[in-house]
Amino acid sequence: MENTETIHNFPDVKEIWSGIGGHFDSLGQIINEFVDNCISNFDANNTIQKNICVQLKELEKDGNVEISIEDTGTGIKNLDAAFTLGGRAGAESPLNEHGFGLKHALASANPTNDSWVIYTKNESDADKNQYRAIKAPYSIGEYQISVLNPSETNWPGVYSLKTGTLVRFICSREMYRTIYKRATDFVRIADALMEDLGFTYADIIKSGRATILIKTIPYGQSEINESVGALTPLWEQYITPGSGTEIINLGGGDVKLEYEFGRFTELEDRQQFNNKTAARHYKHSMQSSGVEIRINGRIICSNLFNEVWGIEKHNSYNNFLVKINIISDNPDALPKTRTSKNGLREGDERLEALYSWIRSKMEKPPKDISFSTHETDLFEELKKMSYTSRGILSKERGESYRCDTEMHVFTHSNNASDKVRIDMFESIGTINYVYEGKADSTTSKDVYQLRMYWDGLVYDGIVPSKGFLIAKEHPDTVLEIIDIVNTMKDARGNSYNFEAITWESRGIITER
Ligand SMILES: Nc1ncnc2c1ncn2[C@@H]1O[C@H](COP(=O)(O)OP(=O)(O)O)[C@@H](O)[C@H]1O
Ligand SMILES: [Mg+2]
Repeated sequence: MENTETIHNFPDVKEIWSGIGGHFDSLGQIINEFVDNCISNFDANNTIQKNICVQLKELEKDGNVEISIEDTGTGIKNLDAAFTLGGRAGAESPLNEHGFGLKHALASANPTNDSWVIYTKNESDADKNQYRAIKAPYSIGEYQISVLNPSETNWPGVYSLKTGTLVRFICSREMYRTIYKRATDFVRIADALMEDLGFTYADIIKSGRATILIKTIPYGQSEINESVGALTPLWEQYITPGSGTEIINLGGGDVKLEYEFGRFTELEDRQQFNNKTAARHYKHSMQSSGVEIRINGRIICSNLFNEVWGIEKHNSYNNFLVKINIISDNPDALPKTRTSKNGLREGDERLEALYSWIRSKMEKPPKDISFSTHETDLFEELKKMSYTSRGILSKERGESYRCDTEMHVFTHSNNASDKVRIDMFESIGTINYVYEGKADSTTSKDVYQLRMYWDGLVYDGIVPSKGFLIAKEHPDTVLEIIDIVNTMKDARGNSYNFEAITWESRGIITER
């Protein structure tokens, strides 16, 4: 005989709000969620007007920012469904996937649940000459919203059409800065958002499924209006299989794959983007190469190497790009995205099927060796700088100074042709530094290359004081190996003393 009891669980809204917030890496991703909803609405209803206005208004100098995303869609048809966590009843197209986007995004953008408001008017509102306002704080269960008359209270947005939706919230300056951490200036950050939107929705903008306007209003200044262009790369060459389309079944029904494999030189539309900000997309860097995947034109993830081929990013793959766009109206046929749409769910069989399709077209990405010689230029630069800084300082102190990029070690070895040339050797008085470098990122092998230089110096009777591994960045695995090697001793019984540093820390900018 089994007894039953009842447990009571009523979610606390405050806890839920803070629980569902914080899923996004940046405000840019949050804004994308609102923009996704607009586009989904245009797609599903084939609205005549397909305009989105993203307005950024600086409320006080270097202070909070009011963000608005307004569209010319049909308005929210089912408010009950739209405000239900995980509610999928209102889903209109595959861009409405999880039933969380709007709520997650608001909870992330406005953690204090006090500044956001959504204005919407659908067909039936229009017939009644009204629009509705749903305001913070979010609540669960019964929820009071305002019904307003536009002849008494004007529609607060820029579009004065029969129907549409406007989402508005105030975010902190810290949150605003997550769009582009390198910049602090209000307008520069807005430019970075424009670039991100142009990248995220490139195919959608290009094919006319939506137009996006950015309205930037710096505090005390006049507004700047700009329309977002599609950010696409300019292909230098296609690499087999080149470009094309193919119908395949990833496991849940047919999808159409549009693909391009190749190398790019620069942005197609330099005018609009490169002149404005340090373009972050389709740039000559490790971060903008690799496989990018879009679903129905919307970027989901990019810069994939390891996921597809089990290899690490490397500067010799710079400019190598695979663009994949998966097209389908059937959500079951598409790989599942993460709830914050900043990636796909690894382990999803449809995603695995896609990866293996990519591998069947290209077993391994081709390396471009012309990029791997680049560090020698950087060492020449470093040498020059060392002479003018540390060299001069040493002379003033009466110490000897030497900096050499041609030095060989294992010189006592009999085999003259098998001497090892070290990237850079520097000696300041009795201190000896040895360098191994990479233009971009290091790998574990570079630690051992440095160790070979060190051992070579010891073999030649020189006592190294420190070994520097210099690069633009170092993966954690390399830092771990350095720690391990530093616990070991060389042939003289001295501990290895390696340190990972960056070109930037030595005043050398590696951006090209
Ligand atoms: N701008 C909009 N215009 C029309 N309907 C919208 C808009 N934004 C949200 N909605 C409605 O709200 C629902 C919930 O949105 P959301 O929480 O983002 O979940 P999801 O998009 O993942 O389904 C959508 O399915 C849609 O019906
Ligand atoms: Mg959504």
